[in-house]
Amino acid sequence: METLATIAQLRTWRNARLGSVGFVPTMGALHEGHASLVRRSATENVDTVVSIFVNPTQFGPTEDLDKYPRTLQADLDLCRAAGASAVFTPDKLMMYPPGFATWVTVDRLTNKLCGKSRPDHFRGVTTVVTKLFNLVQPARAYFGQKDAQQALVLTRMAQELDMPLQVITCPIVREHDGLAMSSRNRYLSDADRQRAVALTQALQAIQAAFHGGQRDVVSLRQTGLAVLAPRVDRVDYLEILSAHDLAEIGRVESRALCAVAAFVGTTRLIDNVILEG
Ligand code: PAJ
Repeated sequence: METLATIAQLRTWRNARLGSVGFVPTMGALHEGHASLVRRSATENVDTVVSIFVNPTQFGPTEDLDKYPRTLQADLDLCRAAGASAVFTPDKLMMYPPGFATWVTVDRLTNKLCGKSRPDHFRGVTTVVTKLFNLVQPARAYFGQKDAQQALVLTRMAQELDMPLQVITCPIVREHDGLAMSSRNRYLSDADRQRAVALTQALQAIQAAFHGGQRDVVSLRQTGLAVLAPRVDRVDYLEILSAHDLAEIGRVESRALCAVAAFVGTTRLIDNVILEG
């Protein structure tokens, strides 16, 4: 496995590839969720590139950019074990030279859910992912359903900008008790870690009510909030929207995304489940 620290090194490596390249963009602090994407890419492509870049433009001014966990050596070991051929580790100046002024934005989809409480977040994601796509030129790029809105936004972006690649969304990998794996889980104290599972349990309660025949969104939300609200410090949102375009719905008649974001201590966690069938 090669470690490519500069854009020039990446371009040289990329130009020498003859077969399909799969791509897994990450911000590091890698865990089994990331590993699942790398393994999937390694089975579907000749080469797999993982990028590790804590992208400053997707963090708000009061968010955790400076304390975002950085674990490069362990990340490289995980990438190698999961079958990556190269890891791209650019720095901030390389990705955003002074005076950087070009942005990629996706309308509407980015105004919902996380976009409401993190106003410029998706603009940062779509811009950095476009840059990374242009550098890596993958045939396929892999994202996690864990960040359901991000996956939808990037799928739409690639489609509408005619990017010559396939965006593939992979299932959420969870801890034994159901908590969705996340780099931010490392921030949780033992007591907060116990409470964090409330997000997943709220989604499970909604899923159970849905499978019991409940279709009314107000009632499904109440079921989830009754589990969630008493155990977390603040609910950012718990919403049930069309899984296709995040449109608001009154009843779940077709595929719906049930998504939650909540603070446990000062850590903001997200999770989601698809309601269908
Ligand atoms: P990061 O949070 O590091 O996540 C990288 C990829 O791993 C994303 O596609 C995310 O959805 C996926 N992922 C995270 N936890 C997962 C889990 N438990 N199961 C399955 N997949 C999981 O998302 C980002 O970085 C950034 O926004 C990025 C796309 C790299 C742009 O900067």
